Amino acid sequence: MCGIVGYVGAKPALEVVLEGLRRLEYRGYDSAGVALVAGDALFTEKRAGKLAKLDKALSAGTPPAATTGIGHTRWATHGAPNDRNAHPHLGAGGRVAVVHNGIIENFSALRAELESAGQELRSETDTEVAAHLIEAEIDKGADLTTAMRQVCRRLDGAFTLVATTCDDHDQVVAARRNSPLVVGLGEGENFVASDVAAFIEHTREAMELAQDQVVTITGEQVLVTDFAGNPSEGKRFHVDWDIAAAEKSGYDYFMLKEIAEQPQAIADTLLGRFTDDGRLHLDEIRLSDEELRGIDKIIVIACGTAFHAGLLAKYVIEHWTRIPCEVELASEFRYRDPIVDRDTMVIAISQSGETMDTLMALRHAREQRAKVLAISNTNGSTIPRESDAVLYTRAGPEIAVASTKAFLTQIVACHLIALYLAQVRGLKYGDEITAILRQLERIPSAVAEVLGTVEPVRQLARELGDVETVLFLGRHVGYPVALEGALKLKELAYMHAEGFAAGELKHGPIALIEEGVPVFVIVPPKGRGVLHDKMVSNIAEIRARGARTIVLAEQGDEAVAPYADELIALPAVPTLLQPLVATVPLQVFSCEMATVRGHDVDQPRNLAKSVTVE
Ligand code: AGP
Repeated sequence: MCGIVGYVGAKPALEVVLEGLRRLEYRGYDSAGVALVAGDALFTEKRAGKLAKLDKALSAGTPPAATTGIGHTRWATHGAPNDRNAHPHLGAGGRVAVVHNGIIENFSALRAELESAGQELRSETDTEVAAHLIEAEIDKGADLTTAMRQVCRRLDGAFTLVATTCDDHDQVVAARRNSPLVVGLGEGENFVASDVAAFIEHTREAMELAQDQVVTITGEQVLVTDFAGNPSEGKRFHVDWDIAAAEKSGYDYFMLKEIAEQPQAIADTLLGRFTDDGRLHLDEIRLSDEELRGIDKIIVIACGTAFHAGLLAKYVIEHWTRIPCEVELASEFRYRDPIVDRDTMVIAISQSGETMDTLMALRHAREQRAKVLAISNTNGSTIPRESDAVLYTRAGPEIAVASTKAFLTQIVACHLIALYLAQVRGLKYGDEITAILRQLERIPSAVAEVLGTVEPVRQLARELGDVETVLFLGRHVGYPVALEGALKLKELAYMHAEGFAAGELKHGPIALIEEGVPVFVIVPPKGRGVLHDKMVSNIAEIRARGARTIVLAEQGDEAVAPYADELIALPAVPTLLQPLVATVPLQVFSCEMATVRGHDVDQPRNLAKSVTVE
């Protein structure tokens, strides 16, 4: 997820673009850059770090006056967040500048084609490939719009591309596939952007582009075509949000926005990581197949929500690779003198990549010669940098302190790693992996389906606003989901909440059950036979003692109906993937409870987004 702005009009383009980028910095902030059309040349400035670093570099120089320009704030996916990889990227001759949001799946093949033609690419990004290809089309005589269309027809994946050229002073061309792009329609000026926050200070008249459309803006015109060049239309709308709402895409809180982004975050995390014949290629894993085959133990280390993702990792790793997998709180791991050696793989899960407990545990593991694989959402952060390999989730910046989309994409990353290990160790054939990957590919729509049915959960939160305690029960992969549901409620509603393995009820926790105590129960899919039936018995036991049972179960699971005071139906998914759909109602419930209690949803008391102290 990145922030993109393009402008053509009569105002100083640099000011307009920079202000737009400031409004979009929540979409990405590991580097930023601008390009201006100044006479017969392109002026570009870009810097790693937050927008302030770019501002400083621009102030130290003398950017030319310009009324056409583009800009970008980056959330890195391909290539570390440094000056070289910052956008905009230029074509070989420096006459075309491009900024990009998304993932060009087939960029490696296109890069190889360019390099074999003698072109030298300066960055590690997929975006630079697009810039070179667009300029090459212009060199063959195409105008910028035609060049954009021709190149877009060659790209696979998800992308919003915005380009300008010094060969034509007053135009910006943009294209989108599976990634957002809106047009701002002004008087004598027009804009393109990732979202309306970038331009609503200038105009509230906007146009949303559809899939596979290209838009050419000048100060006076907005022309839309499809990728084949056929005239087309965008969808006009009036923006009635204020700036603050626009930065949250109209949601009241970043947490709600990020919960809603989960289907796309999962799709992005899967994108381009496996071939049609089921071969996984996690190009960020810099461990040889031989090293991966030599692993005889895996230890997952993490904190908080990431730790719950680690608990889920254990089920998939052991199920598919038969490698023993332990899961440890990072803060405990390094002080218990763990048994670690060169055949141990430590997987460090951290959204921020800066959690000190996890970093110190990782360093301890490396001192014991373990191989460390990081799963992180923040490209170039400390934990990935200090690891032997990394698999980045692609959830985009997660602003709310309570982790949601990062958690679901961590689970997906753990599935990918488990499958990769099974593939490398010859434990899964390509067609078996393909079948599992097809199930994973259906998860974004399953999560979207759940998101469409959560209003009763919000209503329940409003009804239970004053309760003192809420319990969560789960079995198998439902148990870490129960723990995560409880953590969310603690973080956001500042109340007692506890998750239990349902099989533990009779060993103590059932004493907590009394009239009216709300208990969320995550029921395994019906196909899980005895596991499912035991959970139904657990629900009957607590109901008999007065619990208010809020049951999350697969659609059509009739067995639970007699014991459910509230029933939350989940789409039917394979057992190991159920956490990806079961977690969502619990996220929504905790968010609504925080709202009911008048708490700061995005910045809960006493908490920080990244705990960089031990
Ligand atoms: C999750 O909602 C919390 N904000 C917290 O538990 C968080 O998951 C934990 O601090 C780990 O953070 P990390 O993923 O950035 O390492």
